[in-house]
Amino acid sequence: MQITLKNPLDMHLHLREGDTLACVFPFSFTSFAGGVVMPNLSTPITSTALAMDYQEKLYALSKEFEAKVALYITPNLNKQELLQAKEKGVKILKLYPKGSTTNSQNGVSEILDKSTLEIFSIAQELGFILSIHAESGGYSLDREFEFLEIIKEIAINFPTLKIIIEHLSDRRSIEVLERYSNVFATLTLHHITLCLDDLLGGGLNPHLFCKPILKSPKDRDALLSLALESHPKVCFGSDSAPHLLSKKLTSPASAGIFSAPFLLEQLCTLFESHNKLENLQSFISDNAIKNYELNLQSNKIITLHTSPCTIPSSIPMGKECIVPLNAGKTLPWSISLHS
Ligand code: NCD
Ligand code: ZN
Repeated sequence: MQITLKNPLDMHLHLREGDTLACVFPFSFTSFAGGVVMPNLSTPITSTALAMDYQEKLYALSKEFEAKVALYITPNLNKQELLQAKEKGVKILKLYPKGSTTNSQNGVSEILDKSTLEIFSIAQELGFILSIHAESGGYSLDREFEFLEIIKEIAINFPTLKIIIEHLSDRRSIEVLERYSNVFATLTLHHITLCLDDLLGGGLNPHLFCKPILKSPKDRDALLSLALESHPKVCFGSDSAPHLLSKKLTSPASAGIFSAPFLLEQLCTLFESHNKLENLQSFISDNAIKNYELNLQSNKIITLHTSPCTIPSSIPMGKECIVPLNAGKTLPWSISLHS
């Protein structure tokens, strides 16, 4: 059996910098035609100049991967910078509540104050997409739910601003997605297949520690249904977030799951096991093209066939390594060479 996917897109991806970038990027550019690259680098991408510089570094490593680098919102972002960003083709602004996740210390602490609302207003006027790490500073399992009030406020006040709830993790968010025409979401592989017990129900598994934290089996199953049905307001965004093994094993452990290796093989396996392979194309590409109004240059065709492949137990990184999601697992699908 085989399946062909046209222009797979990963709409939420952390590629990092330097040696890590060189190590992890090939997993994405060999399988995907493009995607949204997150700006939470050690020096966050807070200006158009930094975004262009990063885009060039990515281009030097792959001429084919259409990287849409997101611009990190700080309280200092102004109209002049946004005009320049638009002129250079930046489409996506990323909002990190200050302190919510890895490298978010330059993020925004008062999301509904006058100066941030002014940024949203200009973003709406200029046609940017607002991508949000939607978590409050409250109790871990309620952080996304608590943040929904802010999402609703932005959705109502800026009705033509497209808002993306990144890495949807809580089934209580689905209602907001369905109620507001300008609210969309990305879904990760881990939030649709795993729950809190996979992280800590047996022994603690630091490789499954991420933000937002994995939730209940009911949350997982509701999100999985959105993906399998390829709900028109969701698309795939892996949130692949590599951290060195040593950073996962020290306390506090870094949050993030390195899911980039063998993503398409895993998604094919998942969709096939639920008899929904016919919906994979829209989940992995078509919905994103519509929702983000993408004008792709690529015409990347990936063919997968039923032949086993095994996810490596770790990926060497200098003297260290990075452990991928589902390390050591054998999958029934492989990407065909020369696909
Ligand atoms: C991400 C990272 O490591 O950059 N971590 C994570 O747990 N998902 C940041 C993010 O998207 O929250
Ligand atoms: Zn992320």
